[in-house]
Amino acid sequence: MGSYFHFSAAVLALATLSTATAAPVQCTASFTDISAADFVQCLDPGWNLGNTLEASPDEGSWNNAKVTPPVFELVRNSGFNGIRIPVTYADHYVGGSPNWPINATWLQRVSDVVDMATAQGFYVVTNMHHDSWKWADVTQTDANLTMIHERFYASWLQIARTLACKPSTLALEPINEPPATTAEHGEQINVLNQLFLKALADAGGHNARRVVTLVGGGEDGAKTAQWFTRPAKNVTNPWAIQYHYYSPYNFIFSAWGKSIWGSAAEEAALVADLAAVRGNFTDVPLLIGEFSASQINCEASARWRYTDLLVRTAHLLNTSVMLWDNGLDNLDRPAGKWRDPTSLGLIMGIKDTPEKNNSLPVGTTDDSAKMQSSSAYIFRRVGEPTTAQALPFEFNGNSVTSIVTGNDNKTLSSTDYAVNSSHIIFSASFLDNYLSPNGAAGRKANMTVNFSEGVPIPIEIVQWDTPVLASLTSLVTSATATTDISIPVTYKGLPRVAAARMVGVNGTILVDAWTQYLGPLQQGRATFSNQYNFDDSHVIITSTALQDVLSSDESTVVTFEFYPRVPGNAVNYTLTVGK
Ligand SMILES: *[C@@H]1O[C@H](CO)[C@@H](O)[C@H](O)[C@H]1NC(C)=O
Ligand SMILES: *[C@@H]1O[C@H](CO)[C@@H](O)[C@H](O)[C@H]1NC(C)=O
Ligand SMILES: *[C@@H]1O[C@H](CO)[C@@H](O)[C@H](O)[C@H]1NC(C)=O
Ligand SMILES: *[C@@H]1O[C@H](CO)[C@@H](O)[C@H](O)[C@H]1NC(C)=O
Ligand SMILES: *[C@@H]1O[C@H](CO)[C@@H](O)[C@H](O)[C@H]1NC(C)=O
Ligand SMILES: *[C@@H]1O[C@H](CO)[C@@H](O)[C@H](O)[C@H]1NC(C)=O
Ligand SMILES: *[C@@H]1O[C@H](CO)[C@@H](O)[C@H](O)[C@H]1NC(C)=O
Ligand SMILES: *[C@@H]1O[C@H](CO)[C@@H](O)[C@H](O)[C@H]1NC(C)=O
Ligand SMILES: *[C@@H]1O[C@H](CO)[C@@H](O)[C@H](O)[C@H]1NC(C)=O
Ligand SMILES: *[C@@H]1O[C@H](CO)[C@@H](O)[C@H](O)[C@H]1NC(C)=O
Ligand SMILES: *[C@@H]1O[C@H](CO)[C@@H](O)[C@H](O)[C@H]1NC(C)=O
Ligand SMILES: *[C@@H]1O[C@H](CO)[C@@H](O)[C@H](O)[C@H]1NC(C)=O
Repeated sequence: MGSYFHFSAAVLALATLSTATAAPVQCTASFTDISAADFVQCLDPGWNLGNTLEASPDEGSWNNAKVTPPVFELVRNSGFNGIRIPVTYADHYVGGSPNWPINATWLQRVSDVVDMATAQGFYVVTNMHHDSWKWADVTQTDANLTMIHERFYASWLQIARTLACKPSTLALEPINEPPATTAEHGEQINVLNQLFLKALADAGGHNARRVVTLVGGGEDGAKTAQWFTRPAKNVTNPWAIQYHYYSPYNFIFSAWGKSIWGSAAEEAALVADLAAVRGNFTDVPLLIGEFSASQINCEASARWRYTDLLVRTAHLLNTSVMLWDNGLDNLDRPAGKWRDPTSLGLIMGIKDTPEKNNSLPVGTTDDSAKMQSSSAYIFRRVGEPTTAQALPFEFNGNSVTSIVTGNDNKTLSSTDYAVNSSHIIFSASFLDNYLSPNGAAGRKANMTVNFSEGVPIPIEIVQWDTPVLASLTSLVTSATATTDISIPVTYKGLPRVAAARMVGVNGTILVDAWTQYLGPLQQGRATFSNQYNFDDSHVIITSTALQDVLSSDESTVVTFEFYPRVPGNAVNYTLTVGK
């Protein structure tokens, strides 16, 4: 449960600082008090305006345009009640110690974006984001804690003054995922929480009555449980705890070929993780401020089962959730479209009708499997005869009420499919409409399965063949290894890479030799984004991987593996070490 903290010497030393420069803000607008518990409940479910105001060096520097009101309107109309606005201040200072002035134009922009969100009726949380590793990292061996404390307090004093008169639908979060690996670091994060609260108290306006979501080390639930200390009883802010959940790391970030998820043990681990945070903070409102199994890299059936379990478990534990979205994961902001409407439906359904079970497509969950199947798809290889296809489903007490094709809204008839207690079985005669042995590879159709309760689930019919790369080898030299290799690809099925194996011609695993002890789908596999990537028309080997090849001095075969992960659906690309 942790002990209550008292203001430390570091905090008290600052009491005389920058407050001298400005009197507390006075607001004319009134303020409607709200408890932290109500606030956290009201923002559920929430959405993160990711890769936007926390982009470095500026809003617009990464993959998203500067945000405009229609984005918030769309998110609101999609059913979200909360918005988290991550903000990086590191690149916007216009001076240094001791007052650390922040560019007034930037503070005004933050204020304007907060207004855009509250104007839509959202409950809003804003924070200080990548500053956590850019200058506020207390784990650095040469960390100047005096500077970090001074700068953190001075920054929050300015931010709090800027946002002082905002309505009570704005909450503040001190810092995003502050690094911490020891109890001493954990204690330093407690000091940051105190400095933040002190700055709020000193800034005036409504800040001392505003809801805050305090954080522990890494914004990690387990570390928070270990090291977090509660604010002193004289802190007037209603407070909640925010933590983030991206576990298991290997599935969420496609590390080491981990494209499957959902064994009984993995499901139990997720439930236990969330329950442990609640168990440590039985009387504190809890918010999972970030989570996301992204449609970019997480296989559909595993992703939907993960999303369903995470959101359902959080709901049972009275814990609110906010979906992370970097602009590529979920909402296509320019197009105004959700890339994975099913995940969105799962999140909204659990909020609106938590008593209803969803029916979910099953996939391989066994880490020792040699192949991966998924009931989110009917996969058929070019050249193979069409046969009936039985897809396992977890019906969870529901029945199938109808199946409709997305292309022509045709309702399937009783000769098209059958359902038993564990499977939906599509007949060969039905699949013949889309698949034929000498047909072309490609994505053929989507069907939507409607159930007696819960969210409809799509199944896509895909005729696949091995993708074709425009080249199959290149020479790696110290001159070329500084740039990613981007290889044009013609996908012949789903346009994505499932995994990439990187093994030297002599059998040396390029990165993380310990993956030899993992299952057949993971041995020698590298990590998405670190060593490989892809887009709609390229597969990519990163310069990081090329540097590793140079260091190993061993020509290396990169095996790009595609969905379905079955023998034959992979292409080798050879990197030859040159001088
Ligand atoms: C809260 O109490 C501490 C002593 O624990 C004191 O130093 C501090 O000034 C008090 N803060 C406020 C805002 O009253
Ligand atoms: C969940 O939190 C809300 C707000 O604090 C509270 O009213 C409700 O009783 C809690 N429910 C449970 C099951 O703990
Ligand atoms: C503040 O930011 C604005 C907008 O980016 C920029 O034009 C201006 O030069 C900045 N001011 C200072 C003092 O750096
Ligand atoms: C640490 O930070 C303080 C406050 O900004 C500064 O006065 C001091 O010179 C810094 N110390 C070092 C070693 O840089
Ligand atoms: C508190 O959290 C720790 C770390 O996650 C966990 O081991 C412990 O079981 C939790 N306590 C309760 C009562 O849930
Ligand atoms: C919902 O699913 C759970 C198992 O996941 C099951 O125990 C429960 O009975 C189901 N509810 C209904 C109404 O069928
Ligand atoms: C399918 O039906 C829905 C609602 O009945 C309609 O909104 C949609 O436009 C139809 N789609 C096609 C391709 O006909
Ligand atoms: C349901 O159908 C599948 C696929 O045909 C089959 O393997 C399974 O045994 C069937 N289950 C029952 C209970 O009949
Ligand atoms: C099926 O739906 C997905 C997701 O919306 C889409 O990307 C894909 O193109 C659709 N497939 C077909 C064959 O229309
Ligand atoms: C799907 O089922 C829901 C009820 O569960 C119903 O309201 C809806 O009309 C159904 N849609 C189709 C296309 O059958
Ligand atoms: C790889 O094997 C070849 C031929 O057996 C050998 O010449 C070379 O030294 C080996 N390279 C490494 C890095 O082990
Ligand atoms: C790719 O290379 C590996 C050895 O690195 C080999 O076992 C495999 O058969 C090759 N696959 C293809 C499709 O050529």
